[in-house]
Amino acid sequence: MNRIVNFAHRGASAVCPENTMVAFRRSLELGATGIETDVQMTKDGQLVLIHDEELERTTTGSGYVKDKTLEELLRLDAGSWFGKDFGGETLPTLQDLLQLIQGQDIILNIELKNGVFLYPGMEEKVIAAIRAFNMSQQIVLSSFNHYSLAYCKSIAPEIRTGILYMEGLYRPWDYAAILGANALHAYHYAVLPEFVAEAAKHGVDYHPFTVNDPQRMKALIDAGVSGIITDHPDLLAGFLAAKGV
Ligand code: G3P
Ligand code: MG
Repeated sequence: MNRIVNFAHRGASAVCPENTMVAFRRSLELGATGIETDVQMTKDGQLVLIHDEELERTTTGSGYVKDKTLEELLRLDAGSWFGKDFGGETLPTLQDLLQLIQGQDIILNIELKNGVFLYPGMEEKVIAAIRAFNMSQQIVLSSFNHYSLAYCKSIAPEIRTGILYMEGLYRPWDYAAILGANALHAYHYAVLPEFVAEAAKHGVDYHPFTVNDPQRMKALIDAGVSGIITDHPDLLAGFLAAKGV
C-alpha cells in the first residue's frame, strides 16, 4: 500500500444507510479507495455486515443478529431507517461485498465485531471467504478483540491485520509486533505525528478512525498516515488529490 488509502467508514455512511450495498457502491463513486465494514455472525454461522449486535437501530427487525438465521435477516429492511428512498435495501453478506470489489484496486477493511459476543469460528469463516475469493492481498482484518487478531494472524499470516484501540497506548508499534499486526487502527485523537514516524520505522501503518473534520484530515495526511477511515470519502479524496498522494 503506497498511496494513502481513503477508507469509507461503513461505506458512504454520511449519505446512505451504513453497511449496505448502496453505501458501498456509492463510496466508490465518491472516490473511496478502501471500504471499512463490520461483520457479525448469524445463528446459522453466516457472515453479515451490520455494525450493532442488535437489529433495532438500522433494520426493521429486533433482537440480536446471533439469534437469527440468514434467511430471517434477509427479510428485513436495512435502508428505510435512513430515508424512504432507501427502502428495500437488505443486509449484505460478507460475500456480497467481496464480490463487489473483487478485481478492483480497492482495499477492504473487515472489522470483526467479536468483542461483545465472541462468535466462535468467525475468524475461520471470514478467512475462508477471503481465500475463496482469492483476495488476501486486498484485505485488512481489524478488531477491538486483540486475541482474535493474534489468532487470525496465526491461521492466516498472509492477511494483514490492524489493531483497533481508543487509548493513548505506549509504543503501540511494539504492541503490534507482539500480535504480528501490520497496522494501528487508532481513534484519531490517539495519533500524533511523532508516533506515525516511529511506527513507520517499525514497518507499522497507521489507519486512524473516524476522521470527518477537514483540518484533522489534512493534519493526518501531513503526519504520514497510510490510510484514513472517514464517513466523507469525497472530502478526503479532494484533499488527497490536492496533495498528490
Ligand atoms: O474500524 C473503525 C471504526 O469502525 C471502529 O468503530 O464502532 O465505528 O465500528 P465502529
Ligand atoms: Mg467499524
